[in-house]
Amino acid sequence: MERKELLYEGRDKKVYATDDPEKLIVSYKDDAIAQNGKKKGTIRGKGVINNRITNVLMQLLEKQGIPTHFVQQLDERETVVRKARMIPLKVIVRNIVAGSLSTRVGQPEGTRLKSTILEYRYKDDVLGDPLINQYHAFALEICTPEELATIDRYALRANGILKECLQELDITLVDFKLEFGRLSDGTIVLADEISPDTSRFWDTRTGEKLDKDRFRRDLGGTEDAYQEVLNRLIGSM
Ligand code: TYD
Repeated sequence: MERKELLYEGRDKKVYATDDPEKLIVSYKDDAIAQNGKKKGTIRGKGVINNRITNVLMQLLEKQGIPTHFVQQLDERETVVRKARMIPLKVIVRNIVAGSLSTRVGQPEGTRLKSTILEYRYKDDVLGDPLINQYHAFALEICTPEELATIDRYALRANGILKECLQELDITLVDFKLEFGRLSDGTIVLADEISPDTSRFWDTRTGEKLDKDRFRRDLGGTEDAYQEVLNRLIGSM
């Protein structure tokens, strides 16, 4: 598959057209940005690691019946994906209190939740991705009730599958973010990435953070932590 023109460059990835109108190529970058652009840096090797982690997890979910945009890994940094019109929603799934939820509800990080929380953020850089609920999503025509029902079902099922897979690797799935798109026929697919950039992974035995909080909070060892997640995933296959 040939890389054609650059269609879009985001914080973590570039997206290219291909000779197939239904397919795109995603290229993962090493750039790291946090606090909505206020904190910038590079995590050496991040793009290569996130490409591989995302693809392993996407294939796991696809096998368990969740449609994804994954087609094929091209090389260490690049992957062919199905072209989808992205729904401007960040779907966040939480099992344990951390990050912004901790400050919002005044509960310490690490507090176990009695049930899973789903949150939606309206994806808009200028607005800083405000938290919204399903009424906003329908009223603002971000997606239809039918689409959101499918998205919720996929997000909760993905949580079950990922939680179990990671638990076997002594990784606790604290929370993660998903994004979805529509194929040309309207089918909802899981898109974007699932990586330590977009999830919170805690070592079950030591409690050590194996995710982007190492970068956000200047804990050091970010690249090693990402590599550790990949090593455990590969070791399990
Ligand atoms: P959250 O605690 O809401 O925000 P923050 O990371 O700013 O404390 O994040 C919950 C999870 O969702 C976490 O694993 C990071 C992920 N996430 C993203 O990947 N992108 C985003 O824009 C946001 C807000 C969260």
